[in-house]
Amino acid sequence: MRVLVTGGAGFIGTHTCLLLLEKGYDVVAIDSYINSNKKSLQRVIEILKSNKTTKDVSIKIFNIDIRDKKKLDELFLDAQNSGQPFKSVIHFAGLKSVKDSLSNPLLYWDANVKGTINLLNIMNKYKCKTIVFSSSATIYGLSDDEILSENIEIKPINPYGVTKAVIEKLLNDIFDSEPSCWRIANLRYFNPIGAHSSGMIGEAPIGVPSNIFPYITQVASGVLDKLTIYGNDWPTRDGSGIRDYIHVMDLAEGHISALKYLVKNNHQIINLNLGTGLGTSVLELVDIFERANKIKIPFEFSERRKGDSCKVIADNSLALSCLDWEPKRTLKEMCIDGWRWQSLNPNGY
Ligand SMILES: NC(=O)c1ccc[n+]([C@@H]2O[C@H](COP(=O)([O-])OP(=O)(O)OC[C@H]3O[C@@H](n4cnc5c(N)ncnc54)[C@H](O)[C@@H]3O)[C@@H](O)[C@H]2O)c1
Repeated sequence: MRVLVTGGAGFIGTHTCLLLLEKGYDVVAIDSYINSNKKSLQRVIEILKSNKTTKDVSIKIFNIDIRDKKKLDELFLDAQNSGQPFKSVIHFAGLKSVKDSLSNPLLYWDANVKGTINLLNIMNKYKCKTIVFSSSATIYGLSDDEILSENIEIKPINPYGVTKAVIEKLLNDIFDSEPSCWRIANLRYFNPIGAHSSGMIGEAPIGVPSNIFPYITQVASGVLDKLTIYGNDWPTRDGSGIRDYIHVMDLAEGHISALKYLVKNNHQIINLNLGTGLGTSVLELVDIFERANKIKIPFEFSERRKGDSCKVIADNSLALSCLDWEPKRTLKEMCIDGWRWQSLNPNGY
């Protein structure tokens, strides 16, 4: 089956493209490279070539911004004319920094919301009506619930989260307009970390990372002096915030399971939390990283950040019951794999 992957050169995109290709999907990836490097998908090809069973597998890659209607239309038209139209889309393309979205909301609405509207218009035009969308646990905002299930109220507290919530709403409206045509999965990710075990692909943020894990690995490799931990007075077991970390390969597997689930079942729209259901504090994560990799991570505490939550843990029971999927990799593996990637690639790609 031919799948279009938007944002395929990014962190989660590369890992998912690799798995799709390993599983025999015909993959076309597009990216504007605003937050990624052209080398990332070349590395995916190198990994495939190093394996006897996948050495002849190929991927088509295009430099396309999803806001560029003309190029997107040409891509879908070419696929249709070649007799291999797109049947489904995994939609990663978007901007993801909460901090940047606060200072530049227009850019976030433009890239995330307008970009997705363009994509959906073209999908609709070419009758490609299956989409797996990268949503985020950020849409739950400051919930009082300790464990977040899909049916709690959505109340995002920053422009980034708002764009994800708005896109989910739009996808619901589109589904309602043609319920017998669309298959839609909104995958709400918790905290993806780690990297492929080869150390060839991983997270390579441009500039100072805003997520905790690349921050830790960049401190470990000496790119940054020390880790800043926001808040030591949260009502948690050690005062630092608690998150649900999931290995990026488990997350990538979740996408393939979600795609298979959509294709196999009746038309529907479904919201699924992809997390492990386990909460880990920042101090625990630092400790596991230090012990797993035998590296000290100097850190300092700073004030809580505006808009941060105390605990963000997934109720992943719906995903576990619907999808042929469960997260398998431990935090220790996430720390080892993530550090392997960073130590082999201290400056990214
Ligand atoms: N990593 C996380 O912690 C996390 C958590 C929840 C949700 N998400 C969402 O998952 C998706 C993928 O995240 P990621 O961590 O791989 O991020 P990433 O930045 O590594 O990947 C996103 C990719 O999309 C590309 N892109 C951005 N705007 C584009 C546009 N207009 N047209 C074409 N390409 C564009 C970027 O260049 C990048 O390669 C994003 O939508 C993000 O919001 C990520």
